Amino acid sequence: MRMYDVIEKKKRGGKLTKDEIEFVIDGFTNGEIPDYQMSAFLMAVWFNGMDKEETYELTMSMANSGNRLDLGLINGIKVDKHSTGGVGDKTTLIIGPIVAALGVPVAKMSGRGLGHTGGTIDKLESIEGFNTSISTEHFINQVNDLHIAIAGQTANLAPADKKIYALRDVTATVDNVSLIASSIMSKKLASGADAIVLDVKCGNGAFMKDLESANSLAEEMVSIGKMAGKKMTAIITDMNEPLGRYVGNSLEIYEAVLCLKGNGDKKLMEVCNVLASYMLIFAGVAKDEAEAEKLIKETIESGKALEKLCQLVKAQGGDEKYIKNEGILPRAHKKIEFLAKNDGFVSKMDTELVGKACLALGGGRLTKESTIDLSVGIYLNKKTGEEVKAGQAIATIYSSDEKKGIDALGILEKAYSFSSDKPVEQISMIKNIVS
Ligand code: URA
Repeated sequence: MRMYDVIEKKKRGGKLTKDEIEFVIDGFTNGEIPDYQMSAFLMAVWFNGMDKEETYELTMSMANSGNRLDLGLINGIKVDKHSTGGVGDKTTLIIGPIVAALGVPVAKMSGRGLGHTGGTIDKLESIEGFNTSISTEHFINQVNDLHIAIAGQTANLAPADKKIYALRDVTATVDNVSLIASSIMSKKLASGADAIVLDVKCGNGAFMKDLESANSLAEEMVSIGKMAGKKMTAIITDMNEPLGRYVGNSLEIYEAVLCLKGNGDKKLMEVCNVLASYMLIFAGVAKDEAEAEKLIKETIESGKALEKLCQLVKAQGGDEKYIKNEGILPRAHKKIEFLAKNDGFVSKMDTELVGKACLALGGGRLTKESTIDLSVGIYLNKKTGEEVKAGQAIATIYSSDEKKGIDALGILEKAYSFSSDKPVEQISMIKNIVS
């Protein structure tokens, strides 16, 4: 087989066989296929797409490119949850402890940020001492003892995806349904869960900007998971504004703790409730959403969910005092307020720009080129639909550096739109459920 012929076939819109797809993935992973040929291949896929079978084979080849985690040693039904990535998305830190406190094993492999979005692993590292690189043995024992462990993906979990993603990032081939679906699902399938609940973000802060594309991504991933024998559901949730009020690593831990103490933002909790409900249903702990929501409420009110987060932090080397007293979590000391010039309402938010403002502060995500300041971030005093009075704070920036703070303010000013009339209220954060 020659890579040239496979590229040529896809360029002309042909359907690739399992062997051809395996040839491409194996060859690229072991270095036999060079970047320039793989780039051409990815662009041909971007233009001509892949059908369901091709996307499934692509996913399986990537999932099999490294080690697959064997969760067989963990008792019970293992349910994973994955978000396609958004701004202010701290749902794992809230749902994980709730579901684990209800006895469901949460064996979570999480990632770092992508693009303008932050990742769970970066957030957890803002808790002093928290170790996200625990051994597989530690990971499995901890899930058996506490029902929860959260670790970074090991280098050898779907290494093909890691290499391909890096190339997609620089060849403008990220935003393709087959490529995104196979990238996400290869890691999920290699992580070994029995059931998967997907949170597909939709809106101006997400990879999928509109409902139609979010639906096709959701359908594609659900179909791949089912073909691989997993129970699957995808919840499409709104990302036309950041999720919750806080954006930034340490600040998002702070907000997660508020939620587990029963003081969570309404929209953020709506998303958490639905995702956690499906996890509980898949695990056989609740028979329907109504029962699941009752259990979730009781688990938060009794303090058991918060206690579970403390146990998780302690078991992975972190100091639980940051959870018991969230006020001492690191927060950059320079405070800059974005003030309203006029009375009015927030009519729209450009969510991606809010993510970029956080990146400008030096927060957000860790890259090869830069370190990360875990203490910086933004508090959104006002969000879409809310009234503002002249002189009031619309958002508050926490920065370690004056210049970076001013840069972030400039970006934030562009992220907000205002109107003099109250905009139509958004009813629900849940846009669709695909199963
Ligand atoms: N998240 C992933 O893991 N891969 C993609 O391609 C997009 C989002």
